[in-house]
Amino acid sequence: MSVRPPAAPARNTTEVPTIPLGSPLLLLGRGADPATERGVVCPGDLPARDDPTLAARAEAAKATLGDRVMVLGHHYQRDQVIAFADARGDSFELSRQAAAAAAPFIVFCGVHFMAESASILGRPDQTVILPDLAAGCSMADMAEGHQVVDAWARLERAGIADVTVPLTYMNSTAAIKAFCGEHHGAICTSSNAPTAMRWAFEEALDGADPEATKVLFLPDQHLGRNTAVLALGLDLDDCVVYDPWRPDGGLTDEELRAARVILWKGHCSVHARFQPEMVTAARDRLPGVEVLVHPECRHEVVLEADRVGSTGQIIRWVDQAPAGARLAIATELNLVKRLGDEHPDKEVVFLDDTVCFCATMNRIDLPHLVWVLEALVAGEVVNEVRVDDDTRHGARIALERMLALPGDGASLRREPAVAAT
Ligand code: 13P
Ligand code: SF4
Repeated sequence: MSVRPPAAPARNTTEVPTIPLGSPLLLLGRGADPATERGVVCPGDLPARDDPTLAARAEAAKATLGDRVMVLGHHYQRDQVIAFADARGDSFELSRQAAAAAAPFIVFCGVHFMAESASILGRPDQTVILPDLAAGCSMADMAEGHQVVDAWARLERAGIADVTVPLTYMNSTAAIKAFCGEHHGAICTSSNAPTAMRWAFEEALDGADPEATKVLFLPDQHLGRNTAVLALGLDLDDCVVYDPWRPDGGLTDEELRAARVILWKGHCSVHARFQPEMVTAARDRLPGVEVLVHPECRHEVVLEADRVGSTGQIIRWVDQAPAGARLAIATELNLVKRLGDEHPDKEVVFLDDTVCFCATMNRIDLPHLVWVLEALVAGEVVNEVRVDDDTRHGARIALERMLALPGDGASLRREPAVAAT
């Protein structure tokens, strides 16, 4: 049976303003900011977590919806959710899948900025649904649109805005993506950051001298620093950190003018918890272990590792490792556990067990997935993520610039990327 939603389905939509306002603190379920994921409660009746029929209900709803729905699952999602994903991938792969999806409904099992990107890349008649609107990203929350506008004004005062290319990590709001699109910039993910940063220096500003060009990298200082130093061969001293909470970003005009890369003071609350001592401890505990880390980790951790690569690259390395290999991995725990389960012939361990799951990725669970799928079967769209037209326009330019870059970041695969430094 195929179920067609009514012409004008009831919607519970988050419209994204072009430049978000300041962000007062909101607790989950205690007040809500409809323009962001913060403080949001799900309006419907979620199925009970211990309902033993949840998996069967998800399966039945998907079967009923058929090719009208595509479920996308980021690698950091729980197993119970990944089991229902039509495609799984890292941020880059999922953005490609979203851009190519034919289904009118995309259920995005990931976090808010990913659903926004899917909505930007999708057709206007497609609907993107995030099963729990509280699945945000603490890193994306570290850069707000108005702060980026202020930072740009700061670069103008220092006389360097016209030689600076804004490059934002996918993990940022649609408003910041639009800002980049409108200022000759682009977007990158952890799989193509080196390609994107090279493009920013060499091609983004037509005819400009790459040596005189600067990059404003948002919002993850660690990915920006690791890319600039390890992939592009810049010095640590070529990078400065812009702190949006300090007057003038905490930098003098001279510091800004001397810098090649201006890093935003943001980080991932999961990956930044890994420490270099954890690498040493893993090597002591597991002789012969190979340490694989995500480039959102601190530079000191990356320097101690054997390889640094995106989520997709880490998966490929584990797939390719010989039976009996020992691998210690610094990335999100759901993925590391799954890699261990899928490779019983290899010893796959989490680099350190004091680092936990990504709390917001983990908000998407089977009850939320069943809830949104069954709502669709009933002809109701809940938790739609849609970006307003102006923002969408600028953000799409930046996303399309990213998708047009060659390859999926082969240059971050300089193997062993870090051991050689
Ligand atoms: P990738 O999917 O690009 O590896 O990013 C990791 C991440 O932290 C996503 O939120
Ligand atoms: Fe954000 Fe880090 Fe979670 Fe990714 S893992 S969604 S960057 S907090």
